[in-house]
Amino acid sequence: MSEIPGFDLQRAVAQVAREVHERWVSLTERTAFVGGAEVEAFEQAFADFLSATGCVGVANGTDALELAIRALGLEPGDEVIVPAFTFIATAAAVTLAGGRPVFAEVESTTLNLDPDDLRQRITDRTVGVIGVHLYGRPFQVDAIVEACREHRLWLIEDAAQAHGARWQGTAVGNFGQLSTWSFYPAKNLGCFGDGGAVTGNDTELLDRVRLLANHGRTAHYEHSEVGRNSRLDALQAAVLNCRLPLLEADNERRRAIAQTYREALSQLRDVRLLEDRSDRLPVYHQMTILLPQRDALRDHLAARGIGSGLQYPRALHLQPAFAASGQRMGDLPVAEAAGEQVLCLPMFPQLTDAEVDTVCKAVVQFFD
Ligand SMILES: Cc1ncc(COP(=O)(O)O)c(C=O)c1O
Repeated sequence: MSEIPGFDLQRAVAQVAREVHERWVSLTERTAFVGGAEVEAFEQAFADFLSATGCVGVANGTDALELAIRALGLEPGDEVIVPAFTFIATAAAVTLAGGRPVFAEVESTTLNLDPDDLRQRITDRTVGVIGVHLYGRPFQVDAIVEACREHRLWLIEDAAQAHGARWQGTAVGNFGQLSTWSFYPAKNLGCFGDGGAVTGNDTELLDRVRLLANHGRTAHYEHSEVGRNSRLDALQAAVLNCRLPLLEADNERRRAIAQTYREALSQLRDVRLLEDRSDRLPVYHQMTILLPQRDALRDHLAARGIGSGLQYPRALHLQPAFAASGQRMGDLPVAEAAGEQVLCLPMFPQLTDAEVDTVCKAVVQFFD
């Protein structure tokens, strides 16, 4: 029985291994490990890819969020509204920056931040909102931008899963004051280790992120404030320079795979697919379905050598790390049910049509 993994890093690496090797040899010969031409070239290329003004490479997507929050401003105890259903880093960054994450409900149809619930959670301590384009599917940009504008809140787009996704034709990453990215190897645009970036259209804010990410440094040994060391490594920037030109084609392939899944699975009564809306171009970081028999289907697939993922098995307000939020089981029912029902099917651009077909048949067979 041949295995079909949920994600296959080997196949992703093979696409660019030779070119990366050449660039790494060159970097090693030049001992150009921190900053330099590869990092600068990537920052420019990624900003151009998004049609954004600028990009600051940082060490990972979690630092990107924390640095963006600090650059936008947060006093100890200030509240930042985040969706209850996302990776922990979205909310942890608020805590790390000295703030208090307030968890909001997600829409049942998309599992993205619910703009109406978001409005209910705004208090006079709220300073900002972090929206997440979960699974590479743009959130409800217009309603969330409008709520932030009305209440004078900053908005960060956590686009860690959404490289190349679009809302009404514009790349995500152009709607908040700042946007943050992860280049963890499994992302749509991934490097061979950790990497991240902050992008935006406000040069002053981006300069502030760069200052905070580089020891608050104004000159080599001059520091205007306490910053941290969170820079994009030159070796990782070289990988990203090899992979960025492939991103659009990779995303297109992900959408084609998703379409095959959707056609095969939409007839299953117990399976719920997330809604694709015509004003958004998703990039299918994950192919997520929801079903009450999630764990049994997962076992059924595993017994046939098919991998799957649980992103995420528990809403964040139920994590012990956020017990201080005061939000409890029952407070955010859609996010809580999602944790019990989501299943992420194999999704990566190098999956073959035959493999996708095998997965579809295995899912359909589960209900026979
Ligand atoms: C939505 C989201 N935000 C933030 C992060 C954090 O990125 P990193 O793992 O690069 O720190 C991730 C990565 O998994 C993510 O999926």
